Amino acid sequence: MLCVLSAFADDLLPSCQSPEIGRYSDIRLRRRVHCAAVFSDFKIEMSTDRLLASRRLDVALALVTQGDYAAAAEVAQAAIAADARWDEAHFTLGDIYERAGEAENAIEAYRQYLILDPIDRMGGEVRLTLLGAAAMRDRLPPDYVRALFDDYAPRFEISLRDRLSYRGPELLFEAVREQLDAIAGPIEVLDLGCGTGLVAEVFGGAVDMIDGIDLSPRMINRAQAKGLYRTLIAGDITAMPDALGTGYGLVVAADVLNYLGDLAPALRAAHARMKPGGLMVFSLEHGDVFPYDLGPGQRFRHHERAMDEWLRECGFAVLSDTYGTLRQEKGNPVEGRIMVVRAIDGLDLLAGDVAQLREQDLPVAQTIH
Ligand SMILES: C[S@@+](CC[C@H](N)C(=O)[O-])C[C@H]1O[C@@H](n2cnc3c(N)ncnc32)[C@H](O)[C@@H]1O
Repeated sequence: MLCVLSAFADDLLPSCQSPEIGRYSDIRLRRRVHCAAVFSDFKIEMSTDRLLASRRLDVALALVTQGDYAAAAEVAQAAIAADARWDEAHFTLGDIYERAGEAENAIEAYRQYLILDPIDRMGGEVRLTLLGAAAMRDRLPPDYVRALFDDYAPRFEISLRDRLSYRGPELLFEAVREQLDAIAGPIEVLDLGCGTGLVAEVFGGAVDMIDGIDLSPRMINRAQAKGLYRTLIAGDITAMPDALGTGYGLVVAADVLNYLGDLAPALRAAHARMKPGGLMVFSLEHGDVFPYDLGPGQRFRHHERAMDEWLRECGFAVLSDTYGTLRQEKGNPVEGRIMVVRAIDGLDLLAGDVAQLREQDLPVAQTIH
C-alpha cells in the first residue's frame, strides 16, 4: 500500500495541514483525499470491504479537516466495521482520538494498528511512546523513517527550504569551513542521511568528492538526479554498508542524528570510516533529559552530557560547539546545536586526550543565525 500512497505531489497539501516532517497522519490525510485517482493508476486489487472502508475513511478525514473529531471517530469506526483488518483505519482512528484529546481511546486504537502492522510503517509505537503508553526506544523504527521520507521526498525541499526556512547544511558548512584546510587532500566527504542532496549543493565547491547514505531510496533518487555524488547508498548509518569507502576526511550529518536516540552506534560507525584526524560536523536538537527524549515533532533531543560521553567513547574530540536556528516549526524557531569533532586514534584515546582537547579547543559559545 505504501508504494501507492507515496505518489502524491506537493500541491495536494490542504492548506489546513502543516507540512512538517514527522507526523505520518498529516501525510496520510493529504494522500487519502486523492486516493481514488491513485488506486486506478496503480490497479490495486481491493476487496469490496476495503473499498467501502476506504470511502468511509475519506469521509472521516474530511471531518477531521473541519475539526469535527466526534463525527470523524464515528465514521472511522464505521470504516473499521467494514474492514476490521485494515491497519491504516485503526491508525487513523487513533490519530483522530489523539486530536480529540481522548488518550485512552487513541492508545487502544494504536495497539490494534500495531497488531495488524508489526513492522509499524506508520509509527504507531512512536505515538504510544509520546502518549506514555510504550517504553522509549533507542531510535525511531527504520521502516517508519524510510516510509516517512519516501513519502516526503517529492516535496521535501519545497516544504523544508521554502516553508520552514531550513538551513542545516549552510550552518554546518559555516561551522566547519575554516577547518577544511587542515584536512589532508583530496577531501572525501561522507554525507550521513544525505536526503535529497542539499549538503552536496552547499559543500560541493569546497571538497573533492562526496558519497551519501540514506534510509530512503526515494530521497536518494532525488540526490542522484543532482549528479553531485560519487556514490549513493540506501542503508542505515548505524550499520554502514561495505559499498561505502573508508578514509573519509569529513563526515557530515545534517538533521539526521535526531532520528536516533542512542548515538553511539552511528558515531562508532562513522569513526570506523574516517581517517585519523578527520572531521565530523553534525546538528542536534538540544534536550534537557539525560540521555535523550523524544520531542512532540517525533525527533530525539540529546542531552549535553550524553553527547560528551558518546563522543569520548567513540573516539572523537570536540572542536567547536555552537547553536543556530535550524528551521521553523509551527512558526517558532528550532534551535539546533552544531558540533565539529575530530576523529582521534586509539593511542590518543588511551592517553585521555579527549577531555583535554575539548577544553583547549572549544571556542567561546557562539550562535550562528
Ligand atoms: C530531515 S532529512 C535531512 C536530509 C539532509 N541531510 C539535509 O540536510 O537536507 C533526514 C534524512 O535522514 C534520513 N535518515 C534518518 N535516519 C536514518 C538512518 N538511521 N540511516 C540513514 N538515513 C537516515 C532520512 O531518510 C532523511 O532523508
